[in-house]
Amino acid sequence: MARSTAQRFTLVESHGDVALASFATEVERGLRTKPKTLPCRFFYDEVGSEIFEQICDLPEYYLTRSEREILDSHADEIAASFERRIALAELGSGSSAKTRFLIEALLRRHGGLYYVPIDISRSMLEASSRELLDRYEALEIRAIASEYEVGLQHLRTETETPKLIAWLGSTIGNLGHEDAADFLRTLRAAMSPDDRLLVGIDLRKDRAILEAAYDDSAGVTARFNMNLLERVNRELGGRFDLDDFEHRAVYDEVKGRVEMHLVSKREQRVAIEELGLEVEFGAQETIHTENSHKYDQIEIDTLTSRAGLGTESQWLDSRGYFSLNLFAPAD
Ligand code: AVJ
Repeated sequence: MARSTAQRFTLVESHGDVALASFATEVERGLRTKPKTLPCRFFYDEVGSEIFEQICDLPEYYLTRSEREILDSHADEIAASFERRIALAELGSGSSAKTRFLIEALLRRHGGLYYVPIDISRSMLEASSRELLDRYEALEIRAIASEYEVGLQHLRTETETPKLIAWLGSTIGNLGHEDAADFLRTLRAAMSPDDRLLVGIDLRKDRAILEAAYDDSAGVTARFNMNLLERVNRELGGRFDLDDFEHRAVYDEVKGRVEMHLVSKREQRVAIEELGLEVEFGAQETIHTENSHKYDQIEIDTLTSRAGLGTESQWLDSRGYFSLNLFAPAD
């Protein structure tokens, strides 16, 4: 008899010893330094995660659509590169929407699949897992609610091999080239020779396309960015007046990255009650909130060689906007 949904699901919640600095600590640090910064990982509270889902549907935000097109066209080929049943681990699985192409292809090919989504949002993991388990009877899920680093420790010890580690959506773009290589190297250290790594990496392209993707006409990305100030107001007693700030997205072609900033429209002082802090802003002074790095082929090759990986396959979408890369451990 088929096993019930509950029998095919486990959830591990662990925050391990990789204690990341709290929101309060990072806000204080980021707003005291010059230039001012706030870490992009704080975009994703409940409100921000909801706005991000809307971003993925925007006409200007090509990334999600391009990656989905690639997965739709090549998931069977990816599945066929594994001779037997595997474990599919996914970093930052979110709603698992694009991953379905992979899950379905792997189920078609091997009859069963062990899926290990890793995400900081426990509620997101529970909701998406339930949906997947109801839909696919031959699927087994071990969800890990934790930061990537902790999730990786679980991966190393707990899953059967071979495994495919998926890191989609160009999340790698938030890291600088060196940090990205270091992180891939950490992933590589958790891999056996038969394991593979599937990474979505956004590509360099025309400034107009890039800047529109991060400054859409409906103002959704602006709200996403502004939500950081609203979070400071909600959670730390901040006194930010949102009308006194504006969203800015600029492509720095030399660094190969889109930068998002919050720009102070005028000279002002803003109190953050719970930090006992008054922050001074000059007119046009910015808070740098995110980097989204865009790669060319040479940069991707440098990245993989630094990380001790080799490219087994690479696919682009029909417009050549986005790349999906299947990496294997080198040597
Ligand atoms: C989730 C990091 C891939 O950089 O494109 C979307 C986040 N920021 N719009 C990206 C984001 C503004 C996104 N990543």
